[in-house]
Formats: sequence, C-alpha cells, structure tokens
Amino acid sequence: MSGTSRAGLQPDVGVLLAAGGVGERAGTAGPKQLHLIAGVPMLLRSVRPFAQHPRVGPIIVALPESVVKQPPAWLESLASDRLRLVAGGATRGESVRLALEALEDAVDIVLVHDAARPFVERDTIDAVLGVAVTCGAVPALPVTDTLKMCDSEAGEVVETVDRARLWRAQTPQGFPREMLRQAYERTEASAVASYTDEAALVQAAGFQVRLVPDLASNIKITTATDLALAELLATE
Ligand code: CTP
Ligand code: MG
Repeated sequence: MSGTSRAGLQPDVGVLLAAGGVGERAGTAGPKQLHLIAGVPMLLRSVRPFAQHPRVGPIIVALPESVVKQPPAWLESLASDRLRLVAGGATRGESVRLALEALEDAVDIVLVHDAARPFVERDTIDAVLGVAVTCGAVPALPVTDTLKMCDSEAGEVVETVDRARLWRAQTPQGFPREMLRQAYERTEASAVASYTDEAALVQAAGFQVRLVPDLASNIKITTATDLALAELLATE
C-alpha cells in the first residue's frame, strides 16, 4: 500500500495536532493557538502545511473541550470528514493519546505536531516522513548555547554541561502508526504525562528513534516574546 501511496495515489499519513493547551505562559486572552499571527490564527498556520500535503489524509485536532463545543467560525468551517476536532486531555500526552484513538486504521505513518509551531516547512515534514517508515523520527537542532546546571535558588553553578551530543527536539515527530499505538498501549495512563514528547514515550516502550535536521524557523510559541517574534517571522 505504501508504494502506491507514495506515488500520490492514496494518502498514507495521518496527522495528530496537539492543540489542547490553554497557553498560560503566552498570556493571551484565550488559548494561544487561536491567537492571530499577522491576521491568521496560529492553529490555521500550523495545520496548513499538512492539509496541503498530498500524502496526508486524516487530521485530528485535539482542543480544549470548551473550544470543541463552541469553536470560532473559522475553525468550525475548517472541520470536515478529513479534519476532525476532538476534546484533548489534561496534559499534552493525554491529548495526543485521545487524538490517536480517533484516528482510523488506514494510515501507515502518524505525524504528531504542536499547534504552537506555526512555521513548520514542507522540507521538515518530508524529512520526517522519510525516516518514519521504520522508526520514530524527530526533527531537531543542535544546541548552540552553553548549558549550565544549577541546583540552588541563589544561582550557584554546579557544572557546565557538555553540549556536543545535545539536540533540541521539535515537531512534527513521525512514527509508524502501529509503533505509536503499541507504545501508548505499553505505557501506564498515569505515566503518559511524564513524557514531554512522543519520541520519549516511544523510546521508553523499546522502539528506535532517529533525529532529522530541522530549521531554526520552526519555533514553538511559548511566551509573549515568542508571539512578538512570530509577527516578524510571518511572511503571509
Ligand atoms: N497541549 C495539548 N494538551 C494539553 C496541553 C498542551 O494538546 N493538555 C498542546 C498545546 O496546545 C501546544 C503543545 O501541546 O500546542 C505544546 O504545549 P505548550 O507550548 O506547553 O502549550 P500550552 O500548554 O498551551 O502552554 P502553557 O504550558 O504555557 O500553558
Ligand atoms: Mg504546556
């Protein structure tokens, strides 16, 4: 099936969009993923590159329950058989688990993406898809800052951490569908929240994960400063 799918005949990729947070640190009036960046909602920006990708079929968006019940008009008009809105959970991992449960079996590869990353490029998606056929794939950037470990409130430095082998993990992360399903099956519900990305959960369940190079522009919007930066980065 994958062979014909890659020829563009049939979509073989499903997308889970983690959009179930409240965006507390961003300080926006409502959830940050609904906030406008240069006039376009953040969530719309993060979902667009996937919706436009020929290999992508179903897209499941996990949102706060209140938003699923009363979506803004632009989001309601986006929803379809292909793009479905589901209620997320208390943590990011829980939201992804609920979105995965809503995804049909007929996809070979699953991509998990943060709604808070509105500038993901097609090249990153394709690089992840290239690896996610056989193992987990994580777009990542080498750490460029000098890293200090600090144990005290007074700020005393314990150690400077060697960054030579350290990478910053981003999204979209890609997995063979069956691998992600089994990884969640093998993980206690109470432990899901302790993993800050799917790759960590998948690796803890015994599967292999590889890094693929990402672009620095694929930033996560966390704070009000990131929102201001996003306004500058938005080109359309
Ligand atoms: N997320 C989710 N379900 C949750 C919490 C977070 O799907 N229960 C999503 C967010 O919507 C976001 C991504 O996970 O797209 C990364 O999380 P983060 O940047 O921490 O977003 P928030 O949790 O919304 O922000 P904050 O932690 O500042 O409240
Ligand atoms: Mg959060």
